[in-house]
Amino acid sequence: MKKKLIAGNWKMNGGLTANESLVKALLAGLKSPSCQVALCAPSIYLSQLQLLLAGGPVDLGAQDMSQHEAGAFTGEISGAMLKEFGIRYCIVGHSERRQYHGETDALVAEKAQRALACGITPIVCVGETLSEREAGKTEEVVKRQLAAVIHTNGHCISEIVVAYEPVWAIGTGKTATTEQAQQVHAVLRGQLKAASAHADRIQILYGGSMNASNAAQLLSQPDIDGGLVGGASLKPVDFLSIIDAAR
Ligand code: PGA
Repeated sequence: MKKKLIAGNWKMNGGLTANESLVKALLAGLKSPSCQVALCAPSIYLSQLQLLLAGGPVDLGAQDMSQHEAGAFTGEISGAMLKEFGIRYCIVGHSERRQYHGETDALVAEKAQRALACGITPIVCVGETLSEREAGKTEEVVKRQLAAVIHTNGHCISEIVVAYEPVWAIGTGKTATTEQAQQVHAVLRGQLKAASAHADRIQILYGGSMNASNAAQLLSQPDIDGGLVGGASLKPVDFLSIIDAAR
């Protein structure tokens, strides 16, 4: 059976001292996790985390990368550069990138493709806004977002991780109900199945105010294969209990 994946998304948080104590507390509480665990940290701290996590059970992830291979793209970081620091995952198309940095479905698809070409597993985020949900467009929106990635990546699609993150649930304390989440996950699974014979092995994570008290219920759903955890990943005790719930 495929393992679940709990990935922390630190967003633009952290500092050299705080990172060290957070990682040490996490590793101390994490003897042999029964799920996969990853931390997606700001790029500038990846080399620090590479050292702190070396040889342990936690994989390292980035939060974004360039769709380009190399060259005159000031401020950007390439997949090859990330790979040099032992990065296994890279979040692409997080709603904050879509919202504040104008990332389109096509760009997100290109980033996913570049990640795969570099041997990095993209964690592709999809999710509807509150007004899209209220207008009954949830399925249409997430399918459109995922379709772009499927179209660009063809048979490699079974190598990605998908994260369903309803935008209205991110950082708001409002979690999708287990039924709402499972319903969308089933839609995404169906779409992946139509594109790949190996869709069952694709991990579909839920993200959006996942915490120590709602994780077990969300993770018990048949198509919820893990979590992309923002706020709670900054608190070792909370993050550890989410990992514990992901059996
Ligand atoms: P949150 O963030 O857990 O703080 O809601 C999740 C995310 O944005 O990945």
